[in-house]
Amino acid sequence: MKQWHKDSIVYQIYPKSYLDTNGDGIGDLRGIIRKIPYLQELGVNAVWLSPCYPSPGDDNGYDIADYRDIGPEYGTLDDFKELLAVAEEHGIRVLMDLVVNHTSDEHYWFQEARKSRDNPYRDYYIWRDPVDGHEPSENKAAFGGSIWEWDETTGQYYLHLFSKKQPDLNWENPKVRQEIVDMINYWLDMGVAGFRCDVINNLAKNEDGDILFGDRLHSYLHQLHTEALGPHGALTIGETWGLTPTQALALTGEERGELTSSFQFEHLLLGRIGGDKWMPEPVDRTAFVDILAKWENGLANDSYPVLVMESHDQPRALSRFGDRDKFPYESATMLAGMLYGMRGIAVIYQGQELGLHDPTFATLDEYRDIETFNGYKELKATGKYSEEEILARLQFGSRDCGRTPIPWTTGKEGGFTSGTPWIKTQVDKGFTAEEQDKDPQSVLNFYRKMLALRKAEAALGDGGVFELVMNKDHTSVYTRTCGDEVIYVVSRYDETEAAFPACVPADAKVILSNYEDGKTDVLRPYEVLWLKA
Ligand code: GLC
Ligand code: CA
Repeated sequence: MKQWHKDSIVYQIYPKSYLDTNGDGIGDLRGIIRKIPYLQELGVNAVWLSPCYPSPGDDNGYDIADYRDIGPEYGTLDDFKELLAVAEEHGIRVLMDLVVNHTSDEHYWFQEARKSRDNPYRDYYIWRDPVDGHEPSENKAAFGGSIWEWDETTGQYYLHLFSKKQPDLNWENPKVRQEIVDMINYWLDMGVAGFRCDVINNLAKNEDGDILFGDRLHSYLHQLHTEALGPHGALTIGETWGLTPTQALALTGEERGELTSSFQFEHLLLGRIGGDKWMPEPVDRTAFVDILAKWENGLANDSYPVLVMESHDQPRALSRFGDRDKFPYESATMLAGMLYGMRGIAVIYQGQELGLHDPTFATLDEYRDIETFNGYKELKATGKYSEEEILARLQFGSRDCGRTPIPWTTGKEGGFTSGTPWIKTQVDKGFTAEEQDKDPQSVLNFYRKMLALRKAEAALGDGGVFELVMNKDHTSVYTRTCGDEVIYVVSRYDETEAAFPACVPADAKVILSNYEDGKTDVLRPYEVLWLKA
């Protein structure tokens, strides 16, 4: 593995909501090009673009109709090549989203496959005969209904783990694997530096459509690595839900030749009863730190963790884990300082650097997300909740909370578009990039300082060993150690004050703090400090 992987600070862009330059209300590649200097100043060295391929948009681009082009609403391949060049001039690598568990039903392969049972593309997908006149299994798809969709023309069911417009590819077919290898090489040859790999642990399945974690998955990934990713030195970050550290190591261990690293999302299940996104409960703040530490330790020797707390699939961290009303600045920066002092690839989602909180959705039709509409139907069908309660639950868990446009300025639509945005904008005083740029005590300027330190301090890099020293009564301390250098990360995850932890040496010097004076006699609400000893 090349060293740059491990020092990556990746910024996730959701292109549709970043910046619109032609007034059609949809963010575009030219908007991203315009913001590259902003990203360089922030201190990131890679961007990951959520899908910007041609797509009918059933799942906002995660249903791809053509793997080798750019969707017209986002621009052209030439725009993309220009983005690669401009990013490179600014020291920023570009990662694409690799969505190969499924295609769109409008992809040429599927259009062919559904024509007849003997079409050459038939085996690119997974087809089954009815069992007793019914679906072959009772499994439910992620966005509602069965995972099996009946195809009238050919009299069989096809498998879709997500929406019925997202048929699953048949990875057992060597032709499918070859197509994907060629497609990966196509982007890497163009200059793309790697991929975030969508639901990558879903590729292997059994007869019932159940996901298999095991030999076949490993061999598929190993093939992609050997024939495409490895020779290009590409960085890959797998999207892997529900893994244990041991399973994650089996995908990402340096000796394995599969993925570089994989996300762990265990801490993002907190604050939801049984992990159900429509069922709020108070966040266990001690567990939040314990889970992160468990993963730091679990991957320590052979792999490299990914540090994440937001994405296009999550509501804003400030709303979920921070104190949005009383301590928005302090809690947003504390969460950042606590997470990004750890060892791993840092992934920051657009708008997180401004400490954004969830937008307010007043009615159902302000939403755009397929999962949210499905959630509405499911909650309604229980018969347990009033309309008002259902809307409150959607507001709490909807993926659209993280998908509204970036408020760049205090102007109309936050400077995102001169037209009508595809989803509502939310522009709150003090939360725009324009205001925060000028304010030394802003979340944006905290992120800039923090990321500069991450790059400057060896103890915060790959070589810096992580150790959790204490995590009690909402105060935590961990160290990062490299040679003689020790960095202490002290966090107060509470709205009350507490004693300054005695385990931190008195002569340690504050290098980062979210309070102006960086005092070390008492810990203030949501205070975070990085100290060097
Ligand atoms: C991943 C994506 C999500 C998408 C799903 C299906 O979880 O992050 O947005 O809906 O895969 O592709
Ligand atoms: Ca546009």
